[in-house]
Amino acid sequence: MDKLDHIVEEAVSAFAAVSDAAQLEQVKARYLGKTGALTERLKALGKLPAEERRTAGAEINKAKTAVESALEARREALREERLLAQLASEALDVTLPGRGTGQGGLHPITLTLERLESLFRSIGFVVADGPEIETDWHNFTSMNTPENHPARSMHDTFYIEGREDVLLRTHTSPVQNRAMVAHVARHAETGTMPDLRIIAPGRVYRVDSDATHSPMFHQVEGLWVGEDVSFADLKGVVADFLRKFFESDDLQVRFRPSFFPFTEPSAEIDVAFMSGALEGRWLEIAGCGMVHPNVLRMGGIDPERYTGFAFGMGLDRLAMLRYGINDLRLFFESDLRFLSQFR
Ligand code: PHE
Repeated sequence: MDKLDHIVEEAVSAFAAVSDAAQLEQVKARYLGKTGALTERLKALGKLPAEERRTAGAEINKAKTAVESALEARREALREERLLAQLASEALDVTLPGRGTGQGGLHPITLTLERLESLFRSIGFVVADGPEIETDWHNFTSMNTPENHPARSMHDTFYIEGREDVLLRTHTSPVQNRAMVAHVARHAETGTMPDLRIIAPGRVYRVDSDATHSPMFHQVEGLWVGEDVSFADLKGVVADFLRKFFESDDLQVRFRPSFFPFTEPSAEIDVAFMSGALEGRWLEIAGCGMVHPNVLRMGGIDPERYTGFAFGMGLDRLAMLRYGINDLRLFFESDLRFLSQFR
């Protein structure tokens, strides 16, 4: 039965040619399936004369067995191949050096804030805060800023759509009023009021954006209210803080007359370094002044008995000067090449 040998040979080489189990089952159908070559032969047996039928049947069954065992051998070989490939691809090289874990660090603004907080805490200030979504009343009215003041114009302030009485605070000054009201309430029973000394760091928002302005930036409000608080105290506290903050005893600090609705008199604070790249240049870092009597009154404090000073410093500006950074946007881009330098 030359023809049968030929079928077996062909099947074996067809099995050898396939490269995966699914293909193999398809090829199998060509020989052993319902209409496969060997199945057709078996079906045709009936038409043979009886004496030929036996030997032909035996021959076909022999060929069928040969094809089946070739099929099983190939199945086994493919399984093996697949396992080896899988083992190779999932191999774990335990001899490779470790990748290490990325080390995080604090943001330069956070570092600056922590430094500032610890310096002010050391002279008796406590940290206070207020909401970033603030009422128009706290942000402006409580800060003695009249209805028609330019700072209220849409150009500077982010308002909340559909709400005229709510905005993103444009400065940390509204915390002054919140802190005064809370302080007065806390000591209402006693009839005396101990000094109120707070710093209030946080985010503030203005419609402004370039290399030195960001629509969101950070300020630190400072407030000291007591019975004999004077402008001399303001100068001493601020100048002392700045020299410690910049670790520079010969740092020059200048108070330049200015105007704010919520302080009287008011000043702007400039610093100049006596060495380094910025040597001799005056840089503005804060606004300050004696708390306006109206602001004390709106905080529930009697301006005849108490006085106070307040300042508002730009925290980002402090960080830029301390670390020698010339573009404010670097703080907010989250670029690891920048941030990792502060680890
Ligand atoms: N709030 C002022 C500003 O944002 C700064 C300031 C605070 C001035 C406190 C005086 C007193 O510019």
